Amino acid sequence: MAGLFDKQAETYLQARPTYPSEWYSMLAARTSHHSLAWDVGTGNGQAALGVAEHYEQVIATDVSEAQLSFAMPHPRVRYVHTSQSMSEDEMVALMGGKNHVDLITVATAVHWFDLPKFYKLAKRLLRKPGGILAVWAYNGMVVSPEFNTISKRLREKALRFWHADAKYIIEGYRNLPFPFESVGLGHEGEPLQLDIPKELLFEGCLKFLKSSSAFTSAKEQGVDLLSEAEIKELESSWGGPNKVRTVTYKAFMLAGTVTE
Ligand SMILES: C[S@@+](CC[C@H](N)C(=O)[O-])C[C@H]1O[C@@H](n2cnc3c(N)ncnc32)[C@H](O)[C@@H]1O
Repeated sequence: MAGLFDKQAETYLQARPTYPSEWYSMLAARTSHHSLAWDVGTGNGQAALGVAEHYEQVIATDVSEAQLSFAMPHPRVRYVHTSQSMSEDEMVALMGGKNHVDLITVATAVHWFDLPKFYKLAKRLLRKPGGILAVWAYNGMVVSPEFNTISKRLREKALRFWHADAKYIIEGYRNLPFPFESVGLGHEGEPLQLDIPKELLFEGCLKFLKSSSAFTSAKEQGVDLLSEAEIKELESSWGGPNKVRTVTYKAFMLAGTVTE
């Protein structure tokens, strides 16, 4: 999967929404300590920076060096490239030992992970009691009834190009295994529903649509998921190139803790 994200790195940086700062306050209010956080699949580091407002140190890791090359520096965030082949013990050593990570965040990435392996590692690393793992993602943009009808049709066309692991995101994490105890912010089978508002021009919207991994995979197979005619149709339902719209990204979160 890392290769897929290497190709998207630059578009990704420009097109994706910013997670609201209240999300980090909400999570920080639920961890017992605020020494160390780990942001996994950090990409350009946007969640790592949000977390850094509340924790003394953040280790932000990613398997894609291309994504990390766009990472935003911060005095309390240490970016580390981790290869897929790193062992569990090596990851524990990187975090300074077991049982002392206060918050682990995975923003729009956990559906790509080897879940049993990652959850085992997270359980070793989390502070007990009081450490929290939070995973979240978003799967679409709500604009207007007319626009939503067209984008729904385009999403259906894109379905066959999604990697199998992306089914979790398409289902809004409702079927994502999440073997952690609830802290009141979504639990297995019932993620917390959240909205991310953002002001966009049509150009930004188009970049968002093109930054999906389905779009990249289709392109590699010689299929363009957005024809010129479809772009025009979307643009006219948007209200033209200069219209600024407030769109809502539909997000969902699961957060949990371990007691032993
Ligand atoms: C959709 S991006 C999300 C980036 C960032 N967290 C955000 O929300 O903006 C997914 C990221 O997960 C990374 N990733 C995928 N599989 C990974 C793995 N097994 N371990 C760590 N990072 C991984 C990708 O390289 C990519 O940067």
